[in-house]
Amino acid sequence: MYNSFDNPGLVKVLTFLQTHNTEYLSGQDLSDVLRISRVAIWKHIKKIQELGYTVESKQKLGYKLISNSDLLLPWEITSELKTEIIGQQAYYFDSIESTQTQALKMAKDGERNGVIIVAEKQTGGKGRSGRKWISPKGGLWFSIILHPKFDISITTLFPIASALALSITLEKIFNISPELKWPNDLTIKGKKIAGMLVDVSLESNKIENLVLGVGINFDVNVKEIEKSLKGTPNFYGVASLGEQKKKIKPVKLIQRFLVELEKTYKLLENRQTSKIISEWIKRSSTIGKTVELNTINGNIKGKAVKIDNDGALVISENKKNHRIIAGDIIHLSK
Ligand code: BTN
Repeated sequence: MYNSFDNPGLVKVLTFLQTHNTEYLSGQDLSDVLRISRVAIWKHIKKIQELGYTVESKQKLGYKLISNSDLLLPWEITSELKTEIIGQQAYYFDSIESTQTQALKMAKDGERNGVIIVAEKQTGGKGRSGRKWISPKGGLWFSIILHPKFDISITTLFPIASALALSITLEKIFNISPELKWPNDLTIKGKKIAGMLVDVSLESNKIENLVLGVGINFDVNVKEIEKSLKGTPNFYGVASLGEQKKKIKPVKLIQRFLVELEKTYKLLENRQTSKIISEWIKRSSTIGKTVELNTINGNIKGKAVKIDNDGALVISENKKNHRIIAGDIIHLSK
Protein backbone atom coordinates (compact mmCIF):
# COMPACT_ATOMS: atom_id res chain seq x y z
CA MET A 1 0.00 0.00 0.00
CA TYR A 2 1.20 3.49 -0.77
CA ASN A 3 -0.44 6.78 0.05
CA SER A 4 -0.01 10.28 -1.27
CA PHE A 5 1.46 11.79 1.89
CA ASP A 6 3.89 9.34 3.52
CA ASN A 7 6.63 9.48 0.89
CA PRO A 8 7.67 13.13 0.70
CA GLY A 9 11.30 12.34 -0.22
CA LEU A 10 10.38 10.02 -3.05
CA VAL A 11 7.77 12.44 -4.37
CA LYS A 12 10.28 15.33 -4.23
CA VAL A 13 12.84 13.40 -6.28
CA LEU A 14 10.20 12.19 -8.71
CA THR A 15 8.68 15.65 -9.20
CA PHE A 16 12.11 17.11 -9.83
CA LEU A 17 12.88 14.42 -12.42
CA GLN A 18 9.47 15.02 -14.05
CA THR A 19 9.93 18.75 -14.28
CA HIS A 20 13.53 18.45 -15.58
CA ASN A 21 13.08 15.54 -17.95
CA THR A 22 15.10 17.01 -20.80
CA GLU A 23 18.40 16.83 -18.96
CA TYR A 24 20.55 14.50 -16.91
CA LEU A 25 20.69 15.34 -13.22
CA SER A 26 23.61 14.19 -11.17
CA GLY A 27 23.09 12.56 -7.80
CA GLN A 28 25.07 15.39 -6.25
CA ASP A 29 22.90 18.10 -7.88
CA LEU A 30 19.73 16.34 -6.80
CA SER A 31 21.11 16.01 -3.31
CA ASP A 32 22.07 19.71 -3.15
CA VAL A 33 18.83 21.07 -4.59
CA LEU A 34 16.48 18.79 -2.69
CA ARG A 35 18.52 18.70 0.52
CA ILE A 36 18.40 14.92 0.68
CA SER A 37 21.49 12.74 1.21
CA ARG A 38 22.99 11.06 -1.85
CA VAL A 39 22.25 7.64 -0.38
CA ALA A 40 18.61 8.58 0.04
CA ILE A 41 18.48 9.95 -3.54
CA TRP A 42 19.81 6.63 -4.81
CA LYS A 43 17.26 4.68 -2.74
CA HIS A 44 14.38 6.84 -3.99
CA ILE A 45 15.46 6.43 -7.61
CA LYS A 46 15.62 2.67 -7.19
CA LYS A 47 12.08 2.67 -5.75
CA ILE A 48 10.85 5.00 -8.49
CA GLN A 49 12.18 2.54 -11.09
CA GLU A 50 10.55 -0.38 -9.27
CA LEU A 51 7.24 1.49 -9.47
CA GLY A 52 7.34 1.46 -13.25
CA TYR A 53 8.94 4.80 -14.10
CA THR A 54 11.82 4.53 -16.56
CA VAL A 55 14.79 6.44 -15.22
CA GLU A 56 17.94 6.28 -17.28
CA SER A 57 21.14 6.36 -15.31
CA LYS A 58 24.38 7.28 -17.09
CA GLN A 59 27.78 7.32 -15.54
CA LYS A 60 29.18 10.84 -15.12
CA LEU A 61 25.90 12.39 -16.37
CA GLY A 62 23.36 11.25 -13.81
CA TYR A 63 19.65 10.46 -14.00
CA LYS A 64 16.98 11.29 -16.55
CA LEU A 65 13.29 10.40 -16.51
CA ILE A 66 12.36 8.75 -19.79
CA SER A 67 8.76 7.74 -19.11
CA ASN A 68 6.18 7.79 -16.36
CA SER A 69 4.60 4.79 -14.67
CA ASP A 70 1.29 3.39 -15.85
CA LEU A 71 0.27 2.57 -12.29
CA LEU A 72 -2.45 4.57 -10.53
CA LEU A 73 0.01 5.79 -7.92
CA PRO A 74 -1.47 8.00 -5.22
CA TRP A 75 0.82 11.01 -5.70
CA GLU A 76 -0.01 10.96 -9.42
CA ILE A 77 -3.69 11.29 -8.52
CA THR A 78 -3.23 14.10 -6.01
CA SER A 79 -0.59 16.04 -7.92
CA GLU A 80 -2.10 19.11 -9.59
CA LEU A 81 -5.57 17.80 -8.85
CA LYS A 82 -7.98 20.69 -9.32
CA THR A 83 -10.37 19.93 -6.47
CA GLU A 84 -10.71 21.38 -3.00
CA ILE A 85 -11.56 18.23 -1.07
CA ILE A 86 -12.34 15.18 -3.16
CA GLY A 87 -9.23 13.12 -3.88
CA GLN A 88 -6.79 15.38 -2.06
CA GLN A 89 -5.53 12.32 -0.19
CA ALA A 90 -5.12 8.98 -1.91
CA TYR A 91 -4.37 5.41 -0.91
CA TYR A 92 -3.13 2.92 -3.46
CA PHE A 93 -3.25 -0.87 -3.42
CA ASP A 94 -1.67 -3.08 -5.99
CA SER A 95 -4.25 -5.74 -5.16
CA ILE A 96 -7.05 -5.69 -2.61
CA GLU A 97 -10.22 -7.64 -1.93
CA SER A 98 -12.45 -4.59 -2.38
CA THR A 99 -11.70 -0.86 -2.18
CA GLN A 100 -15.27 -0.46 -0.93
CA THR A 101 -14.77 -2.73 2.08
CA GLN A 102 -11.46 -0.99 2.77
CA ALA A 103 -13.05 2.47 2.50
CA LEU A 104 -15.92 1.48 4.78
CA LYS A 105 -13.44 0.32 7.41
CA MET A 106 -11.44 3.52 7.10
CA ALA A 107 -14.58 5.67 7.23
CA LYS A 108 -15.62 3.92 10.42
CA ASP A 109 -12.20 4.70 11.88
CA GLY A 110 -12.82 8.38 11.17
CA GLU A 111 -10.91 8.81 7.89
CA ARG A 112 -11.24 12.32 6.55
CA ASN A 113 -13.60 13.74 3.94
CA GLY A 114 -12.70 13.20 0.28
CA VAL A 115 -10.13 10.42 0.65
CA ILE A 116 -9.86 8.10 -2.36
CA ILE A 117 -8.78 4.46 -2.25
CA VAL A 118 -7.60 3.02 -5.55
CA ALA A 119 -6.58 -0.49 -6.55
CA GLU A 120 -5.03 -1.95 -9.67
CA LYS A 121 -7.14 -5.04 -9.18
CA GLN A 122 -9.71 -6.41 -6.74
CA THR A 123 -9.96 -10.04 -5.76
CA GLY A 124 -13.47 -9.74 -4.29
CA GLY A 125 -14.99 -6.69 -5.96
CA LYS A 126 -18.57 -5.94 -4.89
CA GLY A 127 -21.38 -4.98 -7.22
CA ARG A 128 -24.85 -3.78 -6.31
CA SER A 129 -27.47 -6.17 -4.90
CA GLY A 130 -24.76 -8.49 -3.57
CA ARG A 131 -23.40 -9.29 -7.02
CA LYS A 132 -19.71 -9.74 -7.64
CA TRP A 133 -17.79 -7.16 -9.64
CA ILE A 134 -15.04 -8.58 -11.82
CA SER A 135 -12.05 -6.28 -11.37
CA PRO A 136 -8.92 -7.35 -13.27
CA LYS A 137 -5.88 -5.17 -13.86
CA GLY A 138 -6.62 -2.58 -16.54
CA GLY A 139 -9.84 -1.27 -15.01
CA LEU A 140 -10.33 1.66 -12.68
CA TRP A 141 -11.58 0.52 -9.31
CA PHE A 142 -11.85 3.06 -6.52
CA SER A 143 -13.89 4.22 -3.55
CA ILE A 144 -14.27 7.71 -2.10
CA ILE A 145 -15.09 8.54 1.51
CA LEU A 146 -17.37 11.54 1.96
CA HIS A 147 -18.84 13.35 4.93
CA PRO A 148 -21.67 15.17 3.20
CA LYS A 149 -23.26 18.26 4.60
CA PHE A 150 -26.46 17.55 2.71
CA ASP A 151 -29.60 16.24 4.26
CA ILE A 152 -30.52 12.56 4.37
CA SER A 153 -33.36 13.24 1.89
CA ILE A 154 -30.76 14.01 -0.79
CA THR A 155 -29.10 10.59 -0.47
CA THR A 156 -31.13 8.98 -3.26
CA LEU A 157 -29.91 11.69 -5.60
CA PHE A 158 -26.28 11.09 -4.81
CA PRO A 159 -25.86 7.96 -7.01
CA ILE A 160 -27.61 9.78 -9.83
CA ALA A 161 -25.38 12.82 -9.46
CA SER A 162 -22.26 10.63 -9.39
CA ALA A 163 -23.26 8.78 -12.55
CA LEU A 164 -23.93 12.11 -14.22
CA ALA A 165 -20.47 13.35 -13.19
CA LEU A 166 -18.84 10.29 -14.75
CA SER A 167 -20.86 10.64 -17.92
CA ILE A 168 -19.84 14.30 -18.28
CA THR A 169 -16.19 13.25 -17.73
CA LEU A 170 -16.32 10.61 -20.47
CA GLU A 171 -18.15 12.98 -22.83
CA LYS A 172 -15.43 15.59 -22.39
CA ILE A 173 -12.49 13.20 -22.66
CA PHE A 174 -13.61 10.80 -25.39
CA ASN A 175 -16.22 12.88 -27.14
CA ILE A 176 -18.79 10.09 -26.70
CA SER A 177 -22.29 10.06 -25.25
CA PRO A 178 -22.68 7.27 -22.70
CA GLU A 179 -26.24 6.52 -21.63
CA LEU A 180 -27.40 6.49 -18.05
CA LYS A 181 -29.40 3.53 -16.85
CA TRP A 182 -31.21 4.20 -13.59
CA PRO A 183 -29.92 4.56 -10.98
CA ASN A 184 -26.20 4.68 -11.77
CA ASP A 185 -25.03 2.46 -14.60
CA LEU A 186 -23.23 3.94 -17.58
CA THR A 187 -23.64 2.15 -20.87
CA ILE A 188 -22.32 2.40 -24.40
CA LYS A 189 -24.50 0.84 -27.10
CA GLY A 190 -26.49 -0.83 -24.33
CA LYS A 191 -23.48 -2.45 -22.65
CA LYS A 192 -22.14 -1.59 -19.25
CA ILE A 193 -19.04 0.56 -19.18
CA ALA A 194 -19.17 1.57 -15.50
CA GLY A 195 -21.12 0.93 -12.34
CA MET A 196 -21.38 2.57 -8.95
CA LEU A 197 -22.12 1.51 -5.45
CA VAL A 198 -23.11 3.82 -2.61
CA ASP A 199 -22.94 2.80 1.05
CA VAL A 200 -24.40 5.22 3.54
CA SER A 201 -23.87 5.08 7.25
CA LEU A 202 -26.41 6.89 9.36
CA GLU A 203 -26.19 8.11 12.91
CA SER A 204 -29.40 9.31 14.57
CA ASN A 205 -30.97 10.14 11.21
CA LYS A 206 -27.96 12.08 9.96
CA ILE A 207 -25.43 10.99 7.37
CA GLU A 208 -22.28 10.05 9.24
CA ASN A 209 -20.40 9.13 6.12
CA LEU A 210 -20.99 7.94 2.62
CA VAL A 211 -18.76 5.74 0.50
CA LEU A 212 -18.99 5.92 -3.27
CA GLY A 213 -17.49 2.96 -5.11
CA VAL A 214 -16.79 3.38 -8.79
CA GLY A 215 -15.88 0.67 -11.26
CA ILE A 216 -14.88 1.71 -14.78
CA ASN A 217 -14.06 -0.83 -17.47
CA PHE A 218 -11.15 1.24 -18.67
CA ASP A 219 -9.08 -1.27 -20.58
CA VAL A 220 -10.32 -4.73 -19.76
CA ASN A 221 -10.89 -7.94 -21.64
CA VAL A 222 -14.63 -7.73 -22.30
CA LYS A 223 -14.99 -11.35 -23.42
CA GLU A 224 -13.39 -12.68 -20.23
CA ILE A 225 -15.59 -10.56 -17.96
CA GLU A 226 -18.68 -11.51 -19.93
CA LYS A 227 -17.76 -15.16 -19.60
CA SER A 228 -17.46 -14.86 -15.81
CA LEU A 229 -20.75 -12.97 -15.52
CA LYS A 230 -22.98 -14.97 -17.90
CA GLY A 231 -26.06 -16.10 -16.07
CA THR A 232 -25.88 -13.55 -13.24
CA PRO A 233 -29.16 -11.70 -12.73
CA ASN A 234 -29.55 -8.45 -14.67
CA PHE A 235 -26.43 -9.08 -16.72
CA TYR A 236 -26.70 -7.21 -20.00
CA GLY A 237 -23.20 -7.10 -21.47
CA VAL A 238 -19.92 -5.35 -20.84
CA ALA A 239 -18.06 -2.68 -22.80
CA SER A 240 -14.54 -1.31 -22.36
CA LEU A 241 -13.17 2.18 -22.93
CA GLY A 242 -10.16 0.46 -24.49
CA GLU A 243 -12.34 0.28 -27.62
CA GLN A 244 -12.17 4.08 -27.95
CA LYS A 245 -9.73 5.49 -30.48
CA LYS A 246 -8.54 8.22 -28.18
CA LYS A 247 -5.99 7.08 -25.62
CA ILE A 248 -5.70 8.78 -22.27
CA LYS A 249 -3.73 8.02 -19.14
CA PRO A 250 -5.99 6.32 -16.58
CA VAL A 251 -4.86 8.70 -13.82
CA LYS A 252 -6.04 11.66 -15.94
CA LEU A 253 -9.49 10.11 -16.21
CA ILE A 254 -9.71 9.67 -12.44
CA GLN A 255 -8.60 13.29 -11.92
CA ARG A 256 -11.14 14.69 -14.39
CA PHE A 257 -13.87 12.61 -12.73
CA LEU A 258 -12.94 13.88 -9.27
CA VAL A 259 -13.31 17.46 -10.53
CA GLU A 260 -16.75 16.77 -12.05
CA LEU A 261 -17.83 14.85 -8.96
CA GLU A 262 -16.90 17.73 -6.71
CA LYS A 263 -18.94 20.11 -8.90
CA THR A 264 -22.08 17.96 -8.66
CA TYR A 265 -21.45 17.30 -4.98
CA LYS A 266 -21.45 21.05 -4.36
CA LEU A 267 -24.71 21.40 -6.29
CA LEU A 268 -26.21 18.78 -3.96
CA GLU A 269 -24.89 20.52 -0.86
CA ASN A 270 -26.44 23.76 -2.11
CA ARG A 271 -29.71 21.94 -2.88
CA GLN A 272 -29.46 22.85 -6.57
CA THR A 273 -30.93 19.51 -7.50
CA SER A 274 -33.08 20.44 -10.51
CA LYS A 275 -30.02 20.88 -12.74
CA ILE A 276 -28.74 17.44 -11.79
CA ILE A 277 -32.10 15.86 -12.52
CA SER A 278 -32.58 17.56 -15.88
CA GLU A 279 -29.02 16.76 -17.01
CA TRP A 280 -29.44 13.14 -15.90
CA ILE A 281 -32.75 12.81 -17.77
CA LYS A 282 -31.17 14.19 -20.96
CA ARG A 283 -28.72 11.29 -20.94
CA SER A 284 -31.02 8.61 -19.62
CA SER A 285 -31.79 5.42 -21.52
CA THR A 286 -34.36 4.41 -18.89
CA ILE A 287 -37.01 7.11 -19.17
CA GLY A 288 -39.72 6.15 -21.65
CA LYS A 289 -38.81 2.46 -21.64
CA THR A 290 -40.85 -0.45 -20.40
CA VAL A 291 -38.94 -1.73 -17.40
CA GLU A 292 -39.19 -4.56 -14.96
CA LEU A 293 -38.16 -4.61 -11.33
CA ASN A 294 -38.25 -7.26 -8.63
CA THR A 295 -39.21 -5.94 -5.23
CA ILE A 296 -39.89 -7.72 -1.96
CA ASN A 297 -43.56 -6.99 -2.63
CA GLY A 298 -43.49 -8.62 -6.03
CA ASN A 299 -42.75 -7.81 -9.61
CA ILE A 300 -43.37 -4.40 -11.14
CA LYS A 301 -43.59 -4.04 -14.89
CA GLY A 302 -44.43 -0.71 -16.46
CA LYS A 303 -43.24 2.40 -18.17
CA ALA A 304 -40.44 4.44 -16.61
CA VAL A 305 -42.01 7.89 -16.64
CA LYS A 306 -39.56 10.15 -14.84
CA ILE A 307 -37.34 10.57 -11.85
CA ASP A 308 -38.77 12.81 -9.21
CA ASN A 309 -37.06 15.55 -7.20
CA ASP A 310 -35.47 13.01 -4.88
CA GLY A 311 -34.07 10.88 -7.69
CA ALA A 312 -36.67 8.15 -7.24
CA LEU A 313 -37.78 6.40 -10.41
CA VAL A 314 -41.48 6.63 -11.18
CA ILE A 315 -42.88 3.59 -12.97
CA SER A 316 -46.41 3.66 -14.31
CA GLU A 317 -48.13 0.26 -14.26
CA ASN A 318 -51.78 0.08 -15.31
CA LYS A 319 -52.26 3.78 -14.52
CA LYS A 320 -50.80 3.27 -11.07
CA ASN A 321 -47.55 5.02 -10.27
CA HIS A 322 -44.82 3.27 -8.27
CA ARG A 323 -42.05 5.32 -6.74
CA ILE A 324 -38.81 3.33 -6.57
CA ILE A 325 -35.91 4.61 -4.50
CA ALA A 326 -33.49 1.71 -4.95
CA GLY A 327 -33.22 -1.49 -6.90
CA ASP A 328 -32.22 -3.00 -10.18
CA ILE A 329 -34.34 -2.55 -13.23
CA ILE A 330 -34.33 -4.44 -16.49
CA HIS A 331 -35.02 -2.52 -19.69
CA LEU A 332 -37.60 -4.51 -21.65
CA SER A 333 -38.34 -2.26 -24.63
CA LYS A 334 -35.80 -0.52 -26.86
C1 BTN B 1 -22.59 -2.15 -9.85
O1 BTN B 1 -22.89 -1.62 -10.91
O2 BTN B 1 -23.04 -3.25 -9.52
C2 BTN B 1 -21.66 -1.41 -8.92
C3 BTN B 1 -20.22 -1.74 -9.20
C4 BTN B 1 -19.26 -1.01 -8.28
C5 BTN B 1 -17.84 -1.52 -8.43
C6 BTN B 1 -16.86 -0.71 -7.68
S1 BTN B 1 -15.20 -1.08 -8.10
C7 BTN B 1 -14.61 -0.13 -6.78
C8 BTN B 1 -15.53 -0.39 -5.61
N1 BTN B 1 -15.10 -1.55 -4.87
C9 BTN B 1 -15.96 -2.56 -4.95
O3 BTN B 1 -15.80 -3.68 -4.42
N2 BTN B 1 -17.02 -2.19 -5.71
C10 BTN B 1 -16.90 -0.83 -6.16
